[in-house]
Amino acid sequence: MRALAHFAGRLEPRLERVVEVGGGPCVVPILALCAATSHSPRSIAFTDISSANLAEVERWLRGEPTGFSYRGVLDWLSREHGVHAARIEQLARAGE
Ligand SMILES: C[S@@+](CC[C@H](N)C(=O)[O-])C[C@H]1O[C@@H](n2cnc3c(N)ncnc32)[C@H](O)[C@@H]1O
Repeated sequence: MRALAHFAGRLEPRLERVVEVGGGPCVVPILALCAATSHSPRSIAFTDISSANLAEVERWLRGEPTGFSYRGVLDWLSREHGVHAARIEQLARAGE
């Protein structure tokens, strides 16, 4: 995750359109990207072949309980990048 953040934080121009292919049931890389850049990409296309995985991500998108607790990851990203945990989720949910 640190390597992804390092890579994403130094990209010029910033990522505007993000496609996550085979993202599975959780959004950790998207959270890391948004924390590292303090930026919401214009769009995030999150894909997975499994409808159950996509349903899990849609629950997170709506702010509903999911099978994952992102608390530990968000706390770590927050310390690492100086962005409040709630702000990281806000940035990650804000894509078109
Ligand atoms: C090993 S998981 C990786 C999950 C996530 N990227 C991660 O790093 O935690 C691979 C994911 O790819 C999805 N997948 C497999 N074949 C796919 C395909 N043809 N198109 C889209 N997603 C696919 C699976 O459903 C699974 O969620």
